[in-house]
Amino acid sequence: MRTRPLKVALLGCGVVGSEVARIMTTHADDLAARIGAPVELAGVAVRRPDKVREGIDPALVTTDATALVKRGDLDIVVEVIGGIEPARTLIATAFEHGASVVSANKALLAQDGAALHAAAGEHGKDLYYEAAVAGAIPLIRPLRESLAGDKVNRVLGIVNGTTNFILDKMDTTGAGYQEALDEATALGYAEADPTADVEGFDAAAKAAILAGIAFHTRVRLDDVYREGMTEVTAADFASAKEMGCTIKLLAICERAEDGASVTARVHPAMIPLSHPLASVRGAYNAVFVESDAAGQLMFYGPGAGGAPTASAVLGDLVAVGRNRVGGTTGPGESAYAALPVSSMGEVVTRYHISLDVADKPGVLAQVATVFAEHGVSIDTVRQQGKDGEASLVVVTHRASDAALGGTVEALRKLDTVRGVASIMRVEGE
Ligand SMILES: NC(=O)c1ccc[n+]([C@@H]2O[C@H](COP(=O)([O-])OP(=O)(O)OC[C@H]3O[C@@H](n4cnc5c(N)ncnc54)[C@H](OP(=O)(O)O)[C@@H]3O)[C@@H](O)[C@H]2O)c1
Repeated sequence: MRTRPLKVALLGCGVVGSEVARIMTTHADDLAARIGAPVELAGVAVRRPDKVREGIDPALVTTDATALVKRGDLDIVVEVIGGIEPARTLIATAFEHGASVVSANKALLAQDGAALHAAAGEHGKDLYYEAAVAGAIPLIRPLRESLAGDKVNRVLGIVNGTTNFILDKMDTTGAGYQEALDEATALGYAEADPTADVEGFDAAAKAAILAGIAFHTRVRLDDVYREGMTEVTAADFASAKEMGCTIKLLAICERAEDGASVTARVHPAMIPLSHPLASVRGAYNAVFVESDAAGQLMFYGPGAGGAPTASAVLGDLVAVGRNRVGGTTGPGESAYAALPVSSMGEVVTRYHISLDVADKPGVLAQVATVFAEHGVSIDTVRQQGKDGEASLVVVTHRASDAALGGTVEALRKLDTVRGVASIMRVEGE
């Protein structure tokens, strides 16, 4: 074993960083044996220097993260601050000063992954970020390395624990969205401002990262279609149940049937109860991968939390540490396929549409005509009537999102259609 320790700087010592520091200390001997060199915590950058941090030598703590990454003797910088700045500049500076980087920062990787990879490559350093998608679940490395010889066609994931907790509550208790969100907040599963989670921003960042790796193509955050789950109602769950489905907020990365383009999207969707993702309960995450040779794979586990996320960070630390000891680097960005990323209109899937209509003869025929005119074929129709009003639930065969959009627009113009109560995509069949 090499005796000169690998010097590691920790940028951020919050929920994740404090667990990284703890495990680095408590597992020091095992980490050294696995890497082939001891690991030394060389500095810890934080915002509030006076906060008591158990197990951290106060002499290592600094508020000057820039000076820390410029030291020039660091082997690995672990970035667990989060957000775009100063994380982005600190990572770039770390590469310039000779360090490799491990990050858990999905927002930054989704927005600037290409530039960060380029900077790592330019300086001959590693950039690893297993923790950025689905916390503890090994996903980036399996996609990047284990499946590097296969052809991934689809990645279907529950990659946000907060929204899965809320939807699971609505499903199992019949609660409405607000009630389920309040419970998630009280139990610490949702932040005081849950926008990033419930509006799908967090999942969209993860979808961009996953799609990029799965399809060897750059997928930017702006390429990801995003719809949150705040409009999902108890009535939607009742409808889903009648179809033998449940509702999940899914991140879906797909290769088009002709293989010539890809799409990435985040939205609530009905999935059959028989699909493995339907049984992912509470705040757990899971990602279902479909590939040519391997077939169907499912990755499941805790998608957040200090220790689970630190597990992924430390896995990267060991991998990057081994590379440093061996004088090499791991795989960088693979974007050679450079497939075009299609817009949402080109996505082809099934739809569940719930309409409020007048309860009188001929309405069903009128509605069916609109679907036919837009080339959207109907699979089933269910009608319930009361007091002159009725609800009509239409489930379609596979159709493009653009065709469905046109259909809905035309339906809204019919005198007999009082309103479109909900539109939900049906996935996983
Ligand atoms: N929490 C999770 O479950 C989870 C899961 C997966 C990925 N992640 C990712 O992990 C990263 C960290 O998340 P977290 O939950 O650990 O965040 P956090 O608890 O808010 O911790 C952030 C840390 O960064 C420090 N910090 C903030 N601004 C700084 C600055 N300008 N200079 C130096 N230090 C600064 C803070 O210092 P103070 O301690 O002084 O405030 C704190 O120690 C994020 O990218 C997040 O997306 C988190």
